Amino acid sequence: MDKTITPVRSLRGSISVPGDKSVSHRSLMFGALAEGETVIRNLMPGKDVGNTRSILQQLGVRITDDGDAVRVRGAGLFGFSPPEKSLDAGNSGTTMRLMSGILAAQPFVSILTGDESLSKRPMNRIIIPLGQMGAIIDAQPGGTCPLTIHGRTLSPIHYHSPVASAQIKSCVLLAGLHTEGITAVTEPALSRDHTERMLKAFGVPVKRENTTVSVQGPAKLTGTEIMVPGDISAAAFFLVAASLIPSSELRIRQVGLNPTRSGILTVLRRMGCEITEENPQSVGDEPMADLVVRSGRLSGTVIEGDLIPQLVDEIPVLAVAALFAEGETIVKDAKELRVKETDRIRALETNIGLMGGRIETFEDGFRIMGPQKLTGAGLDSYWDHRIAMAFAVAGLMARGQTVIRRAECAEISHPGFYEDLEALSHV
Ligand code: S3P
Repeated sequence: MDKTITPVRSLRGSISVPGDKSVSHRSLMFGALAEGETVIRNLMPGKDVGNTRSILQQLGVRITDDGDAVRVRGAGLFGFSPPEKSLDAGNSGTTMRLMSGILAAQPFVSILTGDESLSKRPMNRIIIPLGQMGAIIDAQPGGTCPLTIHGRTLSPIHYHSPVASAQIKSCVLLAGLHTEGITAVTEPALSRDHTERMLKAFGVPVKRENTTVSVQGPAKLTGTEIMVPGDISAAAFFLVAASLIPSSELRIRQVGLNPTRSGILTVLRRMGCEITEENPQSVGDEPMADLVVRSGRLSGTVIEGDLIPQLVDEIPVLAVAALFAEGETIVKDAKELRVKETDRIRALETNIGLMGGRIETFEDGFRIMGPQKLTGAGLDSYWDHRIAMAFAVAGLMARGQTVIRRAECAEISHPGFYEDLEALSHV
C-alpha cells in the first residue's frame, strides 16, 4: 500500500497507543509456560504478537478472547505438544529468539521460519549460548533462519553476551528456567528488563546484580493477571510529531515508563521538549502514566553508550527530530541498528537523502545538522514498521506530499497508525 502524507498545521487531542509489544509477547509466552490461567488485558493487536500467539496455539496452548481480555491456559514448562508443521515467526525477532529458548528445552523437534527480513537477521547470537547449554540447532549458512531446533535436556550456564540485547538475555533465561541449576546472563549494558519483572509476577525469583541477571531452574510459573501498558515505542512517533509541529498538544494515555525503555523521554527533554507525566500507576511492576507533550524548540544532542539500549527502537524517529532541531545531533554505539527489521542507518540515509536532507552515517550511528528543510518524496518503508512511521512524521513537516511505499507494515506494531495520526491532525 502507498500512503500519502501531507503537512498538517498542528496535532491536538488525546490518544491511546497499542499495548507494549515486548510485554505482550512475554505475557503470552510466560502464560503458556505457567501452571493455571493467565488473564492479559490490553494485549497488543499487531502482527508480531499475533505470530507468537499462533505459534503457541500450534504447540497446543489454549488461548481465547474473552471480552477485553485474552486468556491463556498454561501448559507448564514441559506441557507443549510437538508442532505438526513449521512455526512462522513472520517479521518478529522477539518471537523467534525467545521461542528458540523455550523450544530448545522441549523433548521434540521444531522448525522456526520467518519472512524475508527476519530470514536475514543474525541468529548465531542465540544459537551460540543455547549450544553451550547443550541445544542442537541447525541454521542456514551465515546463521540465519529457518532454524531446526532439536529439543533436549539443557544444562545451566553463565553467559557473557557481547551485545546488550533483551532478546538474547530473555532467550537464555527462558531456556534456563527448564534446567537444573542457576542460569545467568551478563550483558555489556542493561537492556530492557520486562522478562525479569514479569517472571517475578509469575512467582519466579530473579536475581540482578549490575548487568548480571540469574534464574534458578527448574522454575514454577504460576498464572497471573497482566495489564499491558501502552507501548512507549509507539508513543515515540506522536511525541516527536507533537513536539515538532507548532501549536500542538497531545495527551498519550497510560504509556509504559519502565526506566529501561524510557530513554526517548530523557533525550527529548534534553533536546528541549516539554513532556509531563500525569495519572501515574504501577501494575505488575511496570510503571505507566499519561504523557502530555507540547510543541517547542528543540536543539541537537549526543545519544550514545548505555542510553542506546533504552531507546534503540526510537532512533529512526529521533533522527527525524534531529533534522528539525537546532544544531548537531550525534548517535553512536548503535551498531545494532544495522541488524533490525532492516539496516536502519542505511534506510535513514536513503530516505533523508530523497527528501533533500543531509545525514552523515557511520557504521554505528550518524550525525545530523539541523534545522533542515525537507521536501516530500517517494520513499520505501523497507518493510520496517519503524521506518514507515518515522517518515510519516517527517512527511508531516515536509514541503509537499510524501508517499511511503509498503506503508502497511506499520500494522506490525500499530494497527490503525495512519488513522490515529489523521484523527489528531488539524490541516
Ligand atoms: C525487544 C528487544 C529489542 C528491540 C525489539 C524488542 C524485546 O531488541 O529492538 O524491538 O522484546 O526483547 P534487542 O534486544 O535485540 O536489542
